[in-house]
Amino acid sequence: MSVKSLGYMGFAVKDVSAWRSFLTQKLGLMDAGVTDDGALFRIDSRAWRIAVQQGEADDLAYAGYEVADAAGLTQMTEKLRQAGIEVVTGDVELAKRRGVMGLISFADPFGLPLEIYYGASEVFEKPFMPGAAVSGFLTGEQGLGHFVRCVPDSEKALAFYTQVLGFQLSDVIDMKMGPDVTVPAYFLHCNERHHTLAIAAFPLPKRIHHFMLEVSSLNDVGFAFDRLDADGLITSTLGCHTNDHMVSFYAATPSGVEVEYGWAARTIDRSWVVARHDSPSMWGHKSVRNKA
Ligand SMILES: [Fe+2]
Repeated sequence: MSVKSLGYMGFAVKDVSAWRSFLTQKLGLMDAGVTDDGALFRIDSRAWRIAVQQGEADDLAYAGYEVADAAGLTQMTEKLRQAGIEVVTGDVELAKRRGVMGLISFADPFGLPLEIYYGASEVFEKPFMPGAAVSGFLTGEQGLGHFVRCVPDSEKALAFYTQVLGFQLSDVIDMKMGPDVTVPAYFLHCNERHHTLAIAAFPLPKRIHHFMLEVSSLNDVGFAFDRLDADGLITSTLGCHTNDHMVSFYAATPSGVEVEYGWAARTIDRSWVVARHDSPSMWGHKSVRNKA
């Protein structure tokens, strides 16, 4: 038993209006209005995928993983409780705010608030209209995208996400952080998406290093690159990752957390075997920070 996909993310940020224009005009998300959960944004037929609320953290506030139905939610609740995790269930008011039929709340071993839910709101009657020139985002069975969780103890986080939430290891990249310092980054899947979660002991102040959205064409990536480059927001050039083969670039969100914007990642199938890599990229992904 495992979660099926990353369904939604909520951010607590100092400048909500800067995030609104960043997500819509730069990344091409659809403005889905403001509710008690903050400003909501769409990338597909779901009522929302990203929520942005006012807050001092300037960081990911919570993430929601999806299961198929009520039975799946019950099974995950039991699994979490058997692992000694404190789980809050049956919060009708929270479920209404999230637009889901049922959910549970808990935290990962390093304090990231997580939710597991079923029964998300679909709004096919309100067609997705991108906020900028984007032909589409790749979601569906692969969920919203991925994020890279920064933790002080990656082995402990890995045990939680694999043994309790049911993620499986895709591969490991030994990231060279200095001449004598190598930090392993663990890439985990829960569906065909190569990784829905990565875990690494990067010495960063935020809960995540970046989150990733996958678009439908190389032109979508190129046009977004130009829109972000026009405002000096690119943090890494176009490149291709060694593990998921995604062609992507990175840019700075208004909160410092980065966003990866990519296309054409390879997917997990039955023939997948775990591998290790010494480098994150085949080509590109050169840092452009501090070069301005
Ligand atoms: Fe990524």
